[in-house]
Amino acid sequence: MGARANGRAVGKSLAHDSAHLHVNGSAAYTDDIPEPRDLLHVAVGLSSKAHARIRNIDLDEVVAATGVVAACTAADIQGVNNCGPVVADEQILAADLAEYAGQALFAVAAQTVDQARKATRLVHIDYEELEAILDPMTAVEKQSFVLPTETLQRGDAKTAISNAPQRLQRRLDLGGQDQFYLEGHIAMAVPQEDGGLLVYSSTQHPDEVQHLVAQATARDAKDVVCICRRMGGAFGGKESQAATIACIAAIMANKTGRACKLRLDRDDDMVMTGKRHDFVIEYEVGFDDSGLIHGVDFMFASRCGISADLSGPINDRAMFHCDNAYFLENIQITSYRCKTNTVSNTAFRGFGGPQGMHAIEYVIDDIARTLDKDPLEIRRRNFYGINERNVTPYQQVVEDNIVNDIIDQLEVSSDYAARRAEVREFNTKSAILRRGIAITPVKFGISFTATHLNQAGALVHVYRDGTAHLNHGGTEMGQGLFIKVAQIAADELGITVDKIRINASDTSKVPNASATAASSGSDINGKAAQAACAKIRGRLTEFAARHFSVKEAQVEIEGNRVTAGENELSFEALIKLAWLDRVKLFASGFYKTPKIHYDRETFSGRPFFYYAYGAAVSEVVVDTLTGEYRVTRVDILHDCGTSLNPAMDIGQIEGGFIQGAGWLTSEELCWNAAGELTTHAPSTYKIPTCSDLPIDFRVTLLQNAANREDTIYRSKAVGEPPLMLSLSVFHAIRDAIATEHQPLPDLQAPATPEAVLRAIDGDNR
Ligand code: MTE
Ligand code: HPA
Ligand code: MOS
Repeated sequence: MGARANGRAVGKSLAHDSAHLHVNGSAAYTDDIPEPRDLLHVAVGLSSKAHARIRNIDLDEVVAATGVVAACTAADIQGVNNCGPVVADEQILAADLAEYAGQALFAVAAQTVDQARKATRLVHIDYEELEAILDPMTAVEKQSFVLPTETLQRGDAKTAISNAPQRLQRRLDLGGQDQFYLEGHIAMAVPQEDGGLLVYSSTQHPDEVQHLVAQATARDAKDVVCICRRMGGAFGGKESQAATIACIAAIMANKTGRACKLRLDRDDDMVMTGKRHDFVIEYEVGFDDSGLIHGVDFMFASRCGISADLSGPINDRAMFHCDNAYFLENIQITSYRCKTNTVSNTAFRGFGGPQGMHAIEYVIDDIARTLDKDPLEIRRRNFYGINERNVTPYQQVVEDNIVNDIIDQLEVSSDYAARRAEVREFNTKSAILRRGIAITPVKFGISFTATHLNQAGALVHVYRDGTAHLNHGGTEMGQGLFIKVAQIAADELGITVDKIRINASDTSKVPNASATAASSGSDINGKAAQAACAKIRGRLTEFAARHFSVKEAQVEIEGNRVTAGENELSFEALIKLAWLDRVKLFASGFYKTPKIHYDRETFSGRPFFYYAYGAAVSEVVVDTLTGEYRVTRVDILHDCGTSLNPAMDIGQIEGGFIQGAGWLTSEELCWNAAGELTTHAPSTYKIPTCSDLPIDFRVTLLQNAANREDTIYRSKAVGEPPLMLSLSVFHAIRDAIATEHQPLPDLQAPATPEAVLRAIDGDNR
């Protein structure tokens, strides 16, 4: 395999394979697929109550409306009325109990989108209203949970805290976040001959769509094919919940015998589908005068909504990441998975990790401010060690710790110390405009926490003209997975990327694929594709050696050229010869992540193959009269191992960071007293835009950072970790508003201008 190390594509900043299509508008998203004859458009009728028994749904006027062909309730579902991905606890269409305002109750199919949407409003629903639980702490009080409470304990936190020289405690409110993918949820179900069903879905998990659609329509998996060429963003929002949309389209296709498309409009998408879990966090910490943490006790109460969805692994990941990069010898974590009468929350970039990390970073910041020290000093004081103080609360040994190196490098390259002094100097002279600066680290565990999901497959065909067809189990959501896997396949086959056709994710090509999630897409699909290509390359090498009577070691295949001893020919010519010799020119590949294991009962093991690291320094200026702020400069140093594609990786780092900054600053979800989400459009929900970019934005990849584990080309996953670099923005804002009079401002996230003003005024509670 040595030759591939000099490969021509891996490690290069190749453009995204669809970049030219994205900019000229010809990239086909699910809604752009040519519509089949007789296509019907589906709209969904939603519950207007947060919690109510449904006595009756009267669809007479709906069905009679212009253009309407059919309407369905739960009673029309031929198969199983379930879209719960892990626990079968969520109905596709609620049968007799509405559990949140926005829950799907019925669906309508009509000739046009407008006709379908208008018809939904003609329904008459007889509700019997019930008491609703609308926030996590009420759920804790009433013991309303979607899953059992989990605890993780190492050492003796209580004793360590009470014996420590200093103690602090605080409650944190941490808001949720809408994924706000630009392409909303969509699916089109097209009946095929003899009971087959083809489903085009904007999904991170075609396999799950295939299985849940099969279950809902009383089919076998063999009778359903799910295809997704690309998503216009997903960010976790399409990991589990794309299946609900696909199931509704499939149910309507079943009912009408016609192709049915369901495309949610933005408001319905935001109301109907799950978001990042908001958390209530309580901490108590004991520490000494050097800032060393002796013991910490965390309480996490997260808003899961009405069903389990992915809340189990999400809350587990929050528990796994409330150490971030710090050794916490005595720790106790209690995690409540609260059942509330709100939408079922789901995956969002970081998958609970950001919430856990926010908790410990706030603790560190509070300790530093209490001791009147630079928070960087307290961070360093508590970092994991290399050969000691290196075991996580869940018993994984941190073998690859590079956080100290990253922080040291970034401290220098960002000129942190001088700038911090300058910020302090500025603030002595400026009462209204105040500046702040913060440096925060990231250590993020890579692998699905559910060990069995860490598997992937690929399928590669080489055609007679020497070009190749590539499929793998991953999906493309803008992150650049497809070009990365194509780069790997090209180098492994010895051809250039332009000779490879990158194909849609398709359950009939690669079965049983996990969701493209947990940042593992390139790690696992890259290895699977490499394995498939290695088989073909092996056969070609064997053939060429035989054909030209040379040793296999004398055969080189690279850049569409083949040398076999003295002989030189094109890859295409070799393929022609191999085909004539009846060499098999296609192969499948499989990969499962090694070394990982984990016992959910004891919360111990090695859930993660390795960790990805990074750090960021953010500087802000805050107007203390209005609470408004600007991020003036950000320096990031991030670890992608040996990068597969630096351009893609830098894009992921920039995008992840900005998305995280949106979560912690401007994106605020509000529910009214009736449990209705009132922020369900861009007019009321503020995601970052170009004008919110840091004025000075410097992103660098850590050099000479080969993954110590045997990952694909020693790279590291990059999809989620950079999001958490944004914690530096939050703490820079807090730094700016801390004063002698108020050294520990009670700033809550999202730190909207209103929240900043409340913290300045000290009137949060
Ligand atoms: N980048 C873009 N452009 N769009 C997305 O939807 N999703 C993120 C991240 N980066 C996302 C993205 C999430 S939540 C994950 S888990 C990873 O991409 C998934 O892809 P990967 O495993 O190939 O990194
Ligand atoms: N990350 C993302 N998605 C997941 C995970 C995870 O750890 N586990 C199950 N689905
Ligand atoms: Mo990403 S939250 O694991 O889809």
